[in-house]
Amino acid sequence: MTILAIESSCDDTSAAVLIDGQMRSNVVATQKVHEQYGGVVPELASRAHQQHLVPVVEAALRQAGIRKTDLDAVAFTQGPGLLGSLLVGGMFAKTLALALGKPLIAVNHMRAHILAHFIEEPRPEFPFLCLTVSGGHTQLVVVRSALEMEIIGQTIDDAAGEAFDKTAKLLGLPYPGGPHLDKLARQGDPLRFPFPVGTMPGYDFSFSGLKTAVLYFIRKETAKNPDFVEQNLADLCASIQHTIIQTLLRQLRRAAADQHLTQIALAGGVAANSGLRQALQDEAAAQNWQVFIPAFQYCTDNAAMVARTAQFQYEAGDFATQLVSSDPRLKL
Ligand code: KG4
Ligand code: ZN
Repeated sequence: MTILAIESSCDDTSAAVLIDGQMRSNVVATQKVHEQYGGVVPELASRAHQQHLVPVVEAALRQAGIRKTDLDAVAFTQGPGLLGSLLVGGMFAKTLALALGKPLIAVNHMRAHILAHFIEEPRPEFPFLCLTVSGGHTQLVVVRSALEMEIIGQTIDDAAGEAFDKTAKLLGLPYPGGPHLDKLARQGDPLRFPFPVGTMPGYDFSFSGLKTAVLYFIRKETAKNPDFVEQNLADLCASIQHTIIQTLLRQLRRAAADQHLTQIALAGGVAANSGLRQALQDEAAAQNWQVFIPAFQYCTDNAAMVARTAQFQYEAGDFATQLVSSDPRLKL
């Protein structure tokens, strides 16, 4: 079975080819145009998808050594994401499926982040608990099967990735700030500046308090010493990162204990964070957890995870018609 998948939910244009369970290509074109604006500009994102999509799909087919006529199905990200961006990928997938007379598969982006764990070994066994942390989402999900998932906790304001990016911006770091903050944090003292850990009832998360606390703290200190941020950059990064990680771990620990789950999976772009990875490994040793983190290229937005999810849907007979529409707020 040969599936072509297209991902265009935010600012990465990606295409992947899955042949008989083997990922044969996963091409990603990252849009640089947003850096100068310090955030993703939706209109520019859809235009860049239009420019990148055909060459990205062609590269994915070429790398997999196949032609379009070899495809058995065409999959695409239906949502959630930016409407304009989703429409570009969705229209392309629909047209291609129609022209080839092949089935169309509409994939949920958040499910795909979770099912990225099934691209390579080792794979978690059902049921497991997944913490999905990206630029747009922070969710705790009980994954009962490939098709049956339940959100038990989520952010009420900013996503974890946004917490990284927005605080990094306050420190004057380039966009997206998450990876820069991570790098600088490695040389800093995580306990130097105590910021508030977001506490929420149940398993929900809140990060907006951290952003405000960092803003006021920097303002206050800079008034006394204009070079405060520059002189304390590594410690600020380490302290912010530590706070975000503690906010995530607090709910993860409680959810795992209450749900009696010991297989813990991490998904989404923030899974690349070195501090979070280390904290999870330490926690695993303390709690007897088995922790699963996909390879880096399958954590950030990519079409391989969409292809893998599409395979599960293909096997379940879950196909879309030409009437399917992109949904920026698609639920899990
Ligand atoms: O999953 P993703 O690629 O896109 C979304 O669907 O949002 O996640 C991107 C997010 C950005 O907020 C980025 O700053 C963050 O993941 N990120 C990181 C790191 N690498 C990426 N955050 C902290 N540390 C990192 N190393
Ligand atoms: Zn994503």
